[in-house]
Amino acid sequence: MFRRCLTLSAAAGAVAVASLVVAVGASLAGDDDAKEKSALAKMMIKIDKDTKLVREGTKSLTKFKKANSGKDVAKAAGEIAKYAKEFRDMKEPSEKMKKPFSKWTDLTDRYETAARDMEKAAAKGDFAASQKAWNPLYVSCSNCHGAFRPEVGDGF
Ligand code: HEC
Repeated sequence: MFRRCLTLSAAAGAVAVASLVVAVGASLAGDDDAKEKSALAKMMIKIDKDTKLVREGTKSLTKFKKANSGKDVAKAAGEIAKYAKEFRDMKEPSEKMKKPFSKWTDLTDRYETAARDMEKAAAKGDFAASQKAWNPLYVSCSNCHGAFRPEVGDGF
């Protein structure tokens, strides 16, 4: 009887472990689905990080100096600009939003120009010019999100 009891509880234990494995597996799979981002969204997350660096570094002269006298800001702005080449040819957003592809490329070009202007100003160590370059860069993000990403949820 005692032995049978042990066998039973061992079996129950195995079932419990098995269902735990299934549950964990299922929730991991669920998380993966929720985290599945488009190639563009993944790029945007990286762009967002660099944009935050630019934002921080141009907030005050002290912060600008701290950002290697603008060099760190310039580097981040250069990265932001480089992404333009990668997403300029993407057709999906304009197809999805039923808007002309030329609007997409135009907004991409404005974004690239704004990022390059920031890069140039910061590389020169010019705080005033870098601070001035922030708004056009920020606007270049929000203009495109307004047109191609109606469910805007970030600060850009
Ligand atoms: C040419 C258009 C365009 C420009 C310019 C643009 N974005 Fe985006 N962005 C998009 C689109 C479209 C999405 C939605 C992508 C998706 O969900 O597949 C997006 C999504 C995002 C997201 C959300 C990513 C996520 O977690 O899903 C962030 C953050 C973001 N952009 C930041 C920025 C910042 C910062 C800038 C400017 C420095 C910028 N974007 C410029 C089109 C643009």
